[in-house]
Amino acid sequence: MRIAVFAGDGIGPEVTAQAVRVLQALDLPGLELVEGDVGGAAYRKHGHPLPPETLAIARSSEAILFGAVGDFTLDHLERALRPEQAVLGLRKELGLFANLRPARVFAGLEDLSTLRPDVAGRIDLLIVRELNGDVYFGEKGMRTLDDGRRQGWDMMSYAEDEVRRIAHAGFKAAQGRARDGQPGKLCSVDKANVLETSQLWRDVMIEVAKDYPEVALTHMYVDNAAMQLVKDPGAFDVIVTGNLFGDILSDQASMCVGSIGLLASASLAEGSFGLYEPIHGSAPDIAGQGIANPMATILSAAMLLRHSFGLEEQAARIEAAVAGALADGVKGGDLGGSAGTQEIGDAIVARL
Ligand code: NAD
Ligand code: IPM
Ligand code: MN
Repeated sequence: MRIAVFAGDGIGPEVTAQAVRVLQALDLPGLELVEGDVGGAAYRKHGHPLPPETLAIARSSEAILFGAVGDFTLDHLERALRPEQAVLGLRKELGLFANLRPARVFAGLEDLSTLRPDVAGRIDLLIVRELNGDVYFGEKGMRTLDDGRRQGWDMMSYAEDEVRRIAHAGFKAAQGRARDGQPGKLCSVDKANVLETSQLWRDVMIEVAKDYPEVALTHMYVDNAAMQLVKDPGAFDVIVTGNLFGDILSDQASMCVGSIGLLASASLAEGSFGLYEPIHGSAPDIAGQGIANPMATILSAAMLLRHSFGLEEQAARIEAAVAGALADGVKGGDLGGSAGTQEIGDAIVARL
């Protein structure tokens, strides 16, 4: 079991250290953890946020556990050298096109949500975010127009094969979530009333739906989806959406559950390889204080065991340990508690 560990910047190393402790506590046979530099930390050491050494470690591993990248003291660098390029580069280089971001309220923990408990109690949704295309990876630039005004531009585009493969990922996820005899539901979120990119997205979703007759497909504009997500998040099952909309909606979904410090993610290629990371960033405002919530990263390690290694039982053990710690009142500052990063790690390891 060769796992690359890329801790990154800010709270990245703090939260990743706790997830590593959790993996080590499980006595996994043949576990080998290989550390690599990413983000601002890698730029300072190697002059690049995603140095070739790191990419080589990634390629020779079966999965990546990723912390976070981002360092505002490096925001003046040309874009290709900024810390964020590490995660964007890994996603693109390794073909990690399907980003699964589950948002679920653990039973009895609906009071963590900033929403009313009766609204939050039913939340069990999965955002399937496309990760290799959209305005993120289109041509972009900054230029000065003839009249002297500066103009920044970013090209938003999707090719139909890019939409088709994430559509299949969304439908398969919905298929796998049939409950109590009820088939899973898929809500495709776009802005087809304005954007051509979204019109193609919607057309392709409808085409692919023919392969999954048991999954009910609906469409929603992203502005309405943002509203429905706080009005009645329990109504959603699987949401499939593009790179930018998925980024925004998943941060919002995290607060429906209780905190961005709780939301894990898996970024998957075809096959079993994946990168697993919390959805949050390097949180420079709290970095170095030992107060970041490591639960999102620990839950990402659970996703890693499940998706890349088929270790469902160990994944479920981690999730139960996190839910158990929360139920016993082990909460970080993000959840109105006072437990520190290490203390939360201790509590989870103890419950394993
Ligand atoms: P952020 O997610 O880092 O932080 C947003 C807010 O949430 C902050 O107040 C932070 O303190 C809090 N927060 C985040 N994670 C937390 C945790 N585990 N426990 C407690 N509180 C937590 O987003 P930002 O401030 O917009 O971005 C900071 C940097 O991180 C930027 O450089 C950004 O580009 C980068 N970023 C990286 C990733 C990634 O590596 N995948 C993701 C998002 C943002
Ligand atoms: C995330 C982050 C990244 C994104 C940034 C850091 C490039 O916000 O992982 O959600 O926008 O995808
Ligand atoms: Mn984000």
